[in-house]
Amino acid sequence: MAEPPITALVEENGRVFIVEVVDESVKIKGIGVFNPKATIDTVEYGKEVQIGSKIFTHLPPRLPELILGMKRRAQTIGSKDAGVLIARLGIGPADVVLEAGLGSAGQSMHLARVMGGSGHLITVEPREEHSSVGLENLQTLARALTEFPKHSHIHGMIESSVGEIEAVVNEVDAILLDLPEHTAAIKSVAHLLKIGARISCYCPVSSQLEDAWTACEESGLEIEWAGEVIEREWGKASKGGVRPVNGPFGHTAFLLIAQRKN
Ligand SMILES: C[S@@+](CC[C@H](N)C(=O)[O-])C[C@H]1O[C@@H](n2cnc3c(N)ncnc32)[C@H](O)[C@@H]1O
Repeated sequence: MAEPPITALVEENGRVFIVEVVDESVKIKGIGVFNPKATIDTVEYGKEVQIGSKIFTHLPPRLPELILGMKRRAQTIGSKDAGVLIARLGIGPADVVLEAGLGSAGQSMHLARVMGGSGHLITVEPREEHSSVGLENLQTLARALTEFPKHSHIHGMIESSVGEIEAVVNEVDAILLDLPEHTAAIKSVAHLLKIGARISCYCPVSSQLEDAWTACEESGLEIEWAGEVIEREWGKASKGGVRPVNGPFGHTAFLLIAQRKN
């Protein structure tokens, strides 16, 4: 039997709820108890619907809605860094991509979107309480997209899972690491990179960046770029015009990109 469709309800304050359009009464935290099929099915995209005392706009579940409405456990990589990593690693359709750790799948969701149906994403994660959330987010995304890559998930630490990874693929077009300790991971999987392929390391603190840098060089990779992506949001000023908004100028992580040249 086909699974019920997925849709998005956006509250006036911007909060997004990803809803499975089932024909039964469900309780969704932040919305309340309602029957999604009876309530939303006849509401066109772009139109408003009242549920209890709240007004929501019904929208298609595109990647930004799915990211805003995703379940979260481990800290996620957001679009600011995910987009740059995808561009700098040159990831696209038909690529084979290895990623660790899966965490809540924030980065994996961005990857799956650009890899399409011809790609193969291999994710690795040792903590089941994290992978249960990440895998659920990927399943929801797969139901919302018309194309989704082949997905292989491996339970374990990446440095202890090389045999399992090699049982699935011989070589990869890109590797993305977001781990507390990058060194062992880099040294264990660098040989899987095709010549010309790149690895990225997402490093919240500078000591991680330095360690990852050294490990890449010791693994025969060439550092291509290291740095951080700084984002500055603008908004409408109360007296007219637009200007940078008041608020924190936040740090997420330092990024390291290295390439296998030979
Ligand atoms: C910050 S989270 C990753 C978040 C993910 N990039 C996202 O965007 O949602 C880091 C994850 O790495 C996992 N991890 C830690 N050491 C690992 C290792 N050696 N191999 C694979 N995963 C590891 C952790 O359990 C955790 O879930």
